[in-house]
Amino acid sequence: MRLDKYVSDAMQISRTDARKLIAKGLVQVDGQVCKKGDVQLKGTEKVLFDQQTMEREEFVYIMLNKPLGVVSASTDKRDTTVVDLLQGSFPRRTLFPAGRLDKTSTGFILLTDNGEFAHKILSPKRHIEKEYLVTLDTPLTPEMQQGFEQGVVLADGTKLAPAKAIPTQDPFQARVILTQGVYHQIKRMFGVYNAGVNALHRMRMGNLFLDETLQPGEWKKLSLHEVQQIAQR
Ligand code: URA
Repeated sequence: MRLDKYVSDAMQISRTDARKLIAKGLVQVDGQVCKKGDVQLKGTEKVLFDQQTMEREEFVYIMLNKPLGVVSASTDKRDTTVVDLLQGSFPRRTLFPAGRLDKTSTGFILLTDNGEFAHKILSPKRHIEKEYLVTLDTPLTPEMQQGFEQGVVLADGTKLAPAKAIPTQDPFQARVILTQGVYHQIKRMFGVYNAGVNALHRMRMGNLFLDETLQPGEWKKLSLHEVQQIAQR
């Protein structure tokens, strides 16, 4: 790979800006200042910018606290999308949401450009838990809890995998834990018991909790350690 491409990928800047930094003598290859962007790298060199190692990240993983009214898509003609909220911070990456939350739901959305990882954490076979705080229009009942544990049969006959509805101190709120992702799943599950969902907030994916210091619409890049926690059961 050419040095200017390496620098632009690693720093998430344009090729032109990368060439400017290189020409200014700010980039070193194996301990030597290199001012030529068209130098070919073998891939084994140590590239430093301003004395700091530049390691190109293969993939990016973002935790976003989705606000109300934003859609879980990459582009949309009408509504703001979760990708729009990144405000072009990763111009050279094609990020997409790994899993969906309804427009009216809030909380943890993972954005990444790693399709294989997204597939892995969403596959029902992997049993990766997703946990939600759900506010109902009627109190949670033992019947709902037992039904969730046995596997709810939806109005259209779909038999769902066992799930959990855990009571909280507020009788109108439950912590719901799922391992699959059927369209409008939680709303349809409570619908079977004639209960409506007033609010739905995703708090956890795998073993990683939403960072509650993130205000709605705010996001942060995840470390590889945090990403691994998502994939854990
Ligand atoms: N189930 C729903 O009904 N909506 C969501 O956004 C997520 C799970």
